[in-house]
Amino acid sequence: MTTTAGAHPELLDRRADYPILDRRTYLINNSLGAMHRETRRRLDDFADLWDSEGVVAWNTWFPEMMRVADLVGTVIGAAPGSTVLRANVADALASVASCFDLGGTARSKVVTTAADWPGSHYFWTEQVRRHGGELVVVPYDEGGISVSTDRIVDAIDDRTLLVSVSLVQFRTSALLDLAPVVEAAHRHGAVVVLDAYQAAGCLPVDMAAYDVDICVGGSVKFLCGGPGNGWLSVAPRLVETLRPAAVGWISHAEPFAFEWDDIRYADGIGRFAGGTPNVPAAYAAAPGYQAIVDIGIERIRERSQSLTQLLLDGALERGFDVRSPDDPNRRGGHVTIDPGNAKRVHDALIERKILVDYRPGGGIRIGPHFYNTTDECVEVLDAIAELAAS
Ligand SMILES: Cc1ncc(COP(=O)(O)O)c(C=O)c1O
Repeated sequence: MTTTAGAHPELLDRRADYPILDRRTYLINNSLGAMHRETRRRLDDFADLWDSEGVVAWNTWFPEMMRVADLVGTVIGAAPGSTVLRANVADALASVASCFDLGGTARSKVVTTAADWPGSHYFWTEQVRRHGGELVVVPYDEGGISVSTDRIVDAIDDRTLLVSVSLVQFRTSALLDLAPVVEAAHRHGAVVVLDAYQAAGCLPVDMAAYDVDICVGGSVKFLCGGPGNGWLSVAPRLVETLRPAAVGWISHAEPFAFEWDDIRYADGIGRFAGGTPNVPAAYAAAPGYQAIVDIGIERIRERSQSLTQLLLDGALERGFDVRSPDDPNRRGGHVTIDPGNAKRVHDALIERKILVDYRPGGGIRIGPHFYNTTDECVEVLDAIAELAAS
């Protein structure tokens, strides 16, 4: 198999910013993106400030949290000032769900899909179990790679309160055709909650252009931000109408007034801030986010598509079963392949310091980022072929 450098080979100049790339064949960016070398320095900045300023450090930390949240907002096409950092997607969803009364009205249906994140499935199942309402889970199409947009649209009706879907599916990397889903949801008066976790940082996400109501995700994958920062963005046209029950003192319009009355909500996204934020996580994440913004998501997408296509074609050439869409425009940032005995092959790859992951019902997930070389993609395919045959 002959390989080229792939799209935008100039991005390889940035490899030195991600030290692990010297020590591992790092192809698992759909699970945990590589740490940016500036992250270590930023964590020192955080510690220095705490150590030197004590409580006065909050005067720096609070504005920094908002700046970092807006960096994520830039990546997902959210309006400035409409994104807040939360612990993770589960935490962000809890905050979102607390705005709605699932059991209270004729509008009490949540539509989601079998391809969504299991944590979100557990979440909505328990919400409905405790508070009432109905959960409709649209199944996979035959073949188990994607969920048909038509079936999601058909499941949405005038009783639908929320439509909770992933832009890129975590198992197979299938990319949802979102526009018809948003159109159907809005036609029926439902709110769209988009999980853009697997998409953010590897393909263009434009919350405003999609007219999505609420967008959630986190930082450990292609954003290279590490754990501790989930994010929640709410369309400015909607946010003032939402009254979350899962609030904390920083959700208040004047947190430092320490009022005892009913909450007076902060303006805009501030009402979703909750309690004391995870400052070190935001410090750690900023260099990863900034690199994505500086490079530009279009260039990243073009490189990602060229690398995932190379992986997909190479997998087919070697006779592996491919569990991701072959159309690059219907695919996210990883390719799932099943060479047979995927779990055993995966474990052996890790021993060889070729980092990928394994998902039951899918296979081996390989998620290159802009800093991966085509040689690394060929290396993993050759290693899989050798291990699968042994
Ligand atoms: C689509 C998607 N949503 C959510 C998550 C994670 O959710 P949480 O932030 O609650 O751990 C993942 C993967 O970790 C994912 O792939």
